[in-house]
Amino acid sequence: MSPKATNITWHAGSVSAETRERLLNQRGCVVWLTGLPGSGKSTIGRALERRLAASGHAAYVLDGDNVRHGLNSDLGFSPTDRDENIRRVGHVAAMLADAGLIAITAFVSPYRAGRARARKLVPRGRFIEVFCGAPLSVCQHRDPKGLYRKARQGKLTDFTGVSAPYETPREAELVLDTAAMNVSRCVRAIENALRRRRLLSPTRRRAGKKSARAEPSAAGTSAQGRPRRA
Ligand SMILES: Nc1ncnc2c1ncn2[C@@H]1O[C@H](COP(=O)(O)OP(=O)(O)OP(=O)(O)O)[C@@H](O)[C@H]1O
Ligand SMILES: [Mg+2]
Repeated sequence: MSPKATNITWHAGSVSAETRERLLNQRGCVVWLTGLPGSGKSTIGRALERRLAASGHAAYVLDGDNVRHGLNSDLGFSPTDRDENIRRVGHVAAMLADAGLIAITAFVSPYRAGRARARKLVPRGRFIEVFCGAPLSVCQHRDPKGLYRKARQGKLTDFTGVSAPYETPREAELVLDTAAMNVSRCVRAIENALRRRRLLSPTRRRAGKKSARAEPSAAGTSAQGRPRRA
């Protein structure tokens, strides 16, 4: 989306993303959890954040319900509002990653196009889409917030899985059967995926040592919106 305003000028910084990453001894990235309501995104996101913090990594969870209390409190659940919800979150996550953090997002994010757009905002290899793939029947049975029940009773409209669609990922880096795997197994699987991609520091003992990091050249747009050079 091009900016509405025309009288704006990009102001480049003089501290690079690489410098920020060196300071943090990790590589900024986005772990994008997607799935039906009740599939476990928030639970896994928080558990992953705890595990990463325990190994000395700076991570931050953007949780769907929480973000709707503040930044996105003006949005509802119509297709247009859902789209805008994910557009904004994609940008915030990209900025956190640019700051060198491991941004973990826990949003239903039902549309493929919205997820693909968020992916394009970060450098290649820095977006880990994780499909929390518990079947609808399991999510409905769990119903941790009682919302499936309300939706079935017709007390809630536009509810994903009942009266609104969910588009299953086709390009997820990781598919977790969150009905068959317990939370810690899911978290370990994500941690391994991050490690395989060299997004985590090998060990904290090596903090301060010069680490070999290949900086992928990024296509798309920079975290704050400016078109990147490919
Ligand atoms: N392997 C698992 N991973 C995640 N959650 C699990 C798992 N097994 C059981 N659960 C339970 O499933 C429920 C998942 O609820 P959670 O709020 O995390 O879902 P959500 O995907 O964030 O839903 P919403 O989109 O409504 O926010 C929790 O009660 C959690 O304890
Ligand atoms: Mg949640």
